[in-house]
Amino acid sequence: RKRTAVLISGRGSNMTALIEAASDPDYPAEIVGVISDKANAPGLGMAAARGVPAQAIARSDYPDKQAHDEAIDTALGALGAEIIVLAGYMRILGRSFVEKWQGRIINIHPALLPSYKGLDTHKRALADGVRIHGCTVHFVTPAMDDGPIIAQAAVPVLVGDSEDDLTARVLKAEHRLYPVALKLVAEGKARMEAGRTAFSGFTEDSDKSE
Ligand code: GAR
Repeated sequence: RKRTAVLISGRGSNMTALIEAASDPDYPAEIVGVISDKANAPGLGMAAARGVPAQAIARSDYPDKQAHDEAIDTALGALGAEIIVLAGYMRILGRSFVEKWQGRIINIHPALLPSYKGLDTHKRALADGVRIHGCTVHFVTPAMDDGPIIAQAAVPVLVGDSEDDLTARVLKAEHRLYPVALKLVAEGKARMEAGRTAFSGFTEDSDKSE
């Protein structure tokens, strides 16, 4: 099982979905630790309650972004992490950190990339009147919300949806999608190669192999 660390900033509902998926001994990733850049992130308590080591590495305790990234990298080394999962980690990681971990670091974004990079995705989708929205898991590259796509889930935008309605519908899809995407990466069935996602080892009931 691939040793996997989760980086969070807040609630940690995606983190919890991943911890639950990984509680199955047949799941190919094991969640070995959770790191938050916010000391008061509710997700830290959720992880600890599930027996997963959780720690805060607060940005305010470091003189600059580089030193903060390095502290996180050191903690990941101590955990023996092989894969990093960003789950509501609301800070942009620096280029040297991302390049070191490239191909082994993934993120979930609450939109169908490449549409709606950045923040307030649900509000912007509603304002545009799109009828389909969703979420994306992708490899992290130095450019924000820009890395190769691993998996996506679409949800309908329903007439009369509020931002909260749409947020909740997408979040439910995120909780299903992220464990599927991490499984692909942990099994080596989705790999980052030359700036693209290379897929292999699919059977006919997942995706066509021919
Ligand atoms: C999720 O919707 C995630 O997609 C989003 O933050 C939420 C975190 O919720 N991430 C981003 O916006 C990244 N820029 P959670 O803490 O309950 O998983």
